[in-house]
Amino acid sequence: MSDTLLAPADDALRVQRSALAAAYHERSKHRLERYANGPETLDWDAQPDPFRRYRGAPLQPLPLLAQDPATPWDALHRPGAVAAQPFSLASLGALFELSLALAAWKQAGPDRWSVRINPSSGNLHPTEGWLLCQGVPGLADGVHHYAPHEHALELRAALPASPAPTSPRVFVAQSSIAWREAWKYGERALRYCLLDAGHAAGALAYAAALQGWQLQPCPVAAADLAAWLGLDRDMDFPGGAECEEPELLFELRPPDTAAAPLPGDWLSQPLWQGQANRLDAHPMYRWPVIDQTLEATRPTAGAATAEAPLPQATTVPPQAAPEPAASLIRRRRSAQRFDAQARLDRTALWPLLQALLPGRLPFSALPEADHVHVLLFAHRVDGLAPGAYLLPRSEAGATLLRRQLPVSLDWAPVAEAPADLPLWRLAANPALAGTLRTLNCHQALGSDAILGLALLAEFQPLPTPWAYRERLMEAGLLGQALYLQAEAMSLAGTGIGCFFDDALHQLIGLTPTAAPQAALQSVYHFTIGRALTDSRIATTAPYAHLPAWPERLADTSRSPA
Ligand SMILES: Cc1cc2nc3c(=O)[nH]c(=O)nc-3n(C[C@H](O)[C@H](O)[C@H](O)COP(=O)(O)O)c2cc1C
Repeated sequence: MSDTLLAPADDALRVQRSALAAAYHERSKHRLERYANGPETLDWDAQPDPFRRYRGAPLQPLPLLAQDPATPWDALHRPGAVAAQPFSLASLGALFELSLALAAWKQAGPDRWSVRINPSSGNLHPTEGWLLCQGVPGLADGVHHYAPHEHALELRAALPASPAPTSPRVFVAQSSIAWREAWKYGERALRYCLLDAGHAAGALAYAAALQGWQLQPCPVAAADLAAWLGLDRDMDFPGGAECEEPELLFELRPPDTAAAPLPGDWLSQPLWQGQANRLDAHPMYRWPVIDQTLEATRPTAGAATAEAPLPQATTVPPQAAPEPAASLIRRRRSAQRFDAQARLDRTALWPLLQALLPGRLPFSALPEADHVHVLLFAHRVDGLAPGAYLLPRSEAGATLLRRQLPVSLDWAPVAEAPADLPLWRLAANPALAGTLRTLNCHQALGSDAILGLALLAEFQPLPTPWAYRERLMEAGLLGQALYLQAEAMSLAGTGIGCFFDDALHQLIGLTPTAAPQAALQSVYHFTIGRALTDSRIATTAPYAHLPAWPERLADTSRSPA
């Protein structure tokens, strides 16, 4: 992997790279007359392996929870309400089990597939999880790759015996394997990888909160993260094994504790073990623009000190939701179909929207996650006229939206909304459902939902090239909050990555002015409604394929076949 470090002052290069990101976004738009470039044929029998493994790396099984934490969903959002657990094999096992693990197996006829706690476009799961630790009882110091099928850690890099730190150092990281998405979606796939990465970060933030920890973002240069995860070791990706893109690093921190030194300070003389498996033996297409855009948008050395994370809001959560958070996390599924008659009372809408305000869990997982705003389409909300509404998520965003959207819109504040919800009615329109079906790639989910959302990202100019990634990941965080909040309301959500970008922009009058693109871009759509279940699909437990814990422990030293 190559990465060019930019001097912070090299503004011209940054501008050029930001323009490359914007150009990628433009070219990966679906248009009513033409979908973005993608494969013309798919060989469904030759799907890439859904599980990355590092053959030769020793496997450390993680215990499965005997009982889920009882913490109610609302308490999860109250800083300090959950006592911090000590770092251990069990507590870190719980972190992964409630964020990136398998959630169930599904079967329909001869087809059998797994679904995970975190959602993913097309269920293709480009996001890989990592643990970097030192001084955790029961765990080897070093770099571990999380293997969701085994619910186990592969020790990718062991550290030679070194003095134990005074308190454990625990970091989690994410990488993406773009080919997993590109295999099916072609050029638009990079967007889905970034949205998925945001969902995964959100899933980790909720699971960390259940252990009483904060997921503290650590902005670092991509080249450093690649080196710490061993992703730049070409010799460990032999025979065409697909590369992984470094995405995010977090420190897991109990509240009121000091930051640990970054892994670069203590990952000394790592002993690398294992080689990546090849996921797709016969890739039929190449989409070079994805690699070019990844290269252009890698955070550089200057990123490390660029931004401080938002503090977590200390306000009480918007709604009494007594159900255990872990139950919502486990049962979250994307709706495949909605009941087109279902309705919602507007008083139930307010907590849903309040859950999207910045500064709350999970938005503290990204620095400055307040650059994506919510355009809401209310179809069947009692007490709210059908139509389009706007929820800016920052003062600056409100000003930008006001400047960019036509003055001819209603711009009527929704007086019934709670004081902390700056909700504006843009246009009443009782016949919007059909339009939204069309806009969402003709998917019935668009018209049958109670609510549709389009997430509008501040886009031009992008302040840094990697802000492109941050905008899409922020949208993914919003999506994760929407999925779980919908479950808390006994509804269901579905993320919608397939939509006709500029048709949506035109609908609300967001048209390019002097710049080649509108200053705001819809980067992700979402639908919420009452799910109809498909009784032909059977569901079974996620880890019935694993032996019981004592036998799994006997496997500790065994590496994958
Ligand atoms: C970024 C993203 C985009 C998605 N786009 C669509 C979509 O356009 N249409 C759809 O039916 N489902 C979409 N989904 C839902 C996925 O298909 C779903 O997450 C996946 O099948 C796994 O199922 P689960 O969410 O129940 O775990 C999307 C999900 C994500 C995270």
